[in-house]
Amino acid sequence: MRGDKAGAAFEGDAPAAAACEALRDRRELALVAVERTRTPMMVTDPRQPDSPIVLANQAFLDLTGYDADEVIGRNCRFLQGPETDPAAIDEIRRGLRERRRVDVELLNYRKDGSAFWNQLSISPVEDEDGQLIYHFGSQREATEQRRARAMEETERLLLMEVNHRALNALALVQSIVRLSSADDAQSYARVVNDRIDALTRAHRLLARNGWAGATLDEILSLEIPAHGGARIRAGGPALPVAARIVQPLALVIHELRTNAERHGALSRPDGQMEVCWNARDHWAEIEWRESGLPAPIEEPAATRFGLNIAEGVIRRQLDGTSEFRWANDGLSVRLEFPTGVGDDLRVDRRASKA
Ligand SMILES: Cc1cc2nc3c(=O)[nH]c(=O)nc-3n(C[C@H](O)[C@H](O)[C@H](O)COP(=O)(O)O)c2cc1C
Repeated sequence: MRGDKAGAAFEGDAPAAAACEALRDRRELALVAVERTRTPMMVTDPRQPDSPIVLANQAFLDLTGYDADEVIGRNCRFLQGPETDPAAIDEIRRGLRERRRVDVELLNYRKDGSAFWNQLSISPVEDEDGQLIYHFGSQREATEQRRARAMEETERLLLMEVNHRALNALALVQSIVRLSSADDAQSYARVVNDRIDALTRAHRLLARNGWAGATLDEILSLEIPAHGGARIRAGGPALPVAARIVQPLALVIHELRTNAERHGALSRPDGQMEVCWNARDHWAEIEWRESGLPAPIEEPAATRFGLNIAEGVIRRQLDGTSEFRWANDGLSVRLEFPTGVGDDLRVDRRASKA
């Protein structure tokens, strides 16, 4: 092949493997190969203004959806679009400038506007005097591989998440077994069982949500079905919490609800309960207020066991704080803990308070 621009002459690459008879026809065979391969290929001419495409095979036209007369004479950047990563384009520019091979994966767009991942490989072609005369480019659609890689990564993260949650649940079960107390073995078995049931409900919620966390409302609903009718009022903004928060928090709510049923507002027909929550700087704040108990209310020692568990979980597992007040006509509890959502952005209020 003899370049017609500036009299450039070059032999092209020698075939990596060839019999003598094929070697005689190598130029024609090269053309056949370029046209028949399923790999999109094209050549640009850097000696012309804006390095236009001067040759493209059918596979390139098939991949991009353009006709021959729509690609010849144009610079390849027409394949780029709004989501093409500028860093990938920079990498191409650098490679072209330094006259070296460039391998880059970037998002391109077909004529119909649909996006595809392009595994692009560009290499310089020089004449016998070492002058740059062409660029050879080959494109391979990598959309499926990308999707598969993304799915593999999602699967890996999911498995890690499930593993974490399982270990976390076991640590909670250990605390439950250690901290639960009752007068006899039967009562002990019952309270342990109730607490593990609470964890199981939270586990199911997590599985339902694809291990991506839950909202505070969903967690409360596990313990207070439909928020308990007229005696219980609950409300707050949609407040998502991270997956690791869900089981410990469900256990805390379980303890508060059980305490209310056994000793607090829900142990009396005229007792009332209000649970409201709010979010501030990636922290959740829950106010739990019981009322309707005959005054004066004192901190009853017997109830402390369950509430001790709640306090411990809030402090150790949720990295938060709790405040219990036996005032007026019922127990009031204030809980604060990081939601774990957007951990990187989390403002550590304890640090800023110190
Ligand atoms: C041989 C060759 C093939 C190319 N193929 C593509 C391609 O398939 N998709 C793409 O987005 N850019 C491709 N480019 C890159 C663009 O043509 C252009 O070089 C790049 O956008 C950087 O230059 P610019 O800053 O002038 O846009 C190719 C470049 C060459 C030399």
